[in-house]
Amino acid sequence: MVRWSETLGRACRLQGSMPEISASNRKSFVSQSVQLHSFEGGVCNPHTLAALSNMRSSAELPSFKLNSGTSMPAIGLGFANADNSPDSKAIAAVLHAIEVGYRHFDTASIYGTECALGDALSKALSAGMVSRQDLFITSKLWSDSHDPKDVIPALQQTLTNLKLDYLDLYLIHSPMKLKKGAIYPPKAEEVLPSDIEGAWSGMETCFERGLAKAIGVSNFLVKDLAQLLAHARVPPAVNQVEMHPVWQQKKLRKFCNGVGIHVSAWSPLGAPGTYYGINDVFTNPVIKSISSKHNKSPTQVALRWSFQLGASVLPKSFTFSRIIENFNISDWELSPEDMTNIGNIKRRPLSILEQYYIEHGTPFKTMDDSEDEDP
Ligand SMILES: NC(=O)c1ccc[n+]([C@@H]2O[C@H](COP(=O)([O-])OP(=O)(O)OC[C@H]3O[C@@H](n4cnc5c(N)ncnc54)[C@H](OP(=O)(O)O)[C@@H]3O)[C@@H](O)[C@H]2O)c1
Repeated sequence: MVRWSETLGRACRLQGSMPEISASNRKSFVSQSVQLHSFEGGVCNPHTLAALSNMRSSAELPSFKLNSGTSMPAIGLGFANADNSPDSKAIAAVLHAIEVGYRHFDTASIYGTECALGDALSKALSAGMVSRQDLFITSKLWSDSHDPKDVIPALQQTLTNLKLDYLDLYLIHSPMKLKKGAIYPPKAEEVLPSDIEGAWSGMETCFERGLAKAIGVSNFLVKDLAQLLAHARVPPAVNQVEMHPVWQQKKLRKFCNGVGIHVSAWSPLGAPGTYYGINDVFTNPVIKSISSKHNKSPTQVALRWSFQLGASVLPKSFTFSRIIENFNISDWELSPEDMTNIGNIKRRPLSILEQYYIEHGTPFKTMDDSEDEDP
């Protein structure tokens, strides 16, 4: 059996995180016929529609080549529904996003949104809006199913919810192993000793059976990745982590780049307006000044910054105008000076969730246990 760590130095470095334009995503915004108001939950009036049309660009959707050999579109629609929007609004958002040009959707079993995404995708597929091979669908193994025997059944339930027969990417949601039935955030007594190796062996079976075209992890620190790489037969293709201008993940990105693991940015806007997020990204003076200089929104600057660093971005929005705004980041660029200035933004203080983890006796006891410290 060849361990991944044995081939790390050679193969991984060949498969860095350079953006590419995939043939399947060579769709021009302009050439698409967009009916923004045609779905249940649509909110656009004709004036807004005209304004939105002007916001569209002829930009093509770039993608990143993963070490699995498959390509991941660089911009995905996040599908965590933190404000409990009705399914009809979530479904309308997906259909709108597909018309706009999104092909990548990110959900997880713990979000409770897999069924709504499945409904939207089956509508889009049966209406001929898109074909399955052009879509890139990610979901995640929840922490109460890390036992190797639980992984395939968990993925099968996810596939049933999504009405699909394979995922493009399946991720271990967190290195933390929880008791069966524990939800998020967990109580201290629900946290079990971690078994990354066991969970990963189940993930490898998913990959080998073709149920997931690529497998990866989420919220893994450098030490978790090193532990995983020491045992893996199939290397993780992706580590999905919190990343935005006030939480930059410098140390983790450097490690991932070195071993060919693609970094995907969750909460790329800092999750403004959610119970766990912050508003510090949009209000940051550096972001605001760069946004005025380029005549782009602070959101677009934040997303473009992550993208330019080689990370895919997963902004969540169920608002039609924002879905378009968040997609328009690939036909302009930040200067090296802009990138340096954003790179110098200070890290934010602890989030509510990080405080919760520390106060509730989970394995995370300090800030640096819960995230890799930036240099
Ligand atoms: N792996 C993990 O542990 C993990 C954790 C968190 C998130 N995620 C993934 O990452 C995705 C994105 O993260 P997130 O949802 O936490 O946060 P986010 O994408 O950073 O922010 C979402 C919030 O920003 C608002 N928003 C979106 N676009 C905007 C714009 N252009 N202008 C102003 N406000 C805007 C949204 O509101 P509206 O919807 O009302 O427009 C929503 O309240 C999730 O949906 C999920 O798929 C993964």
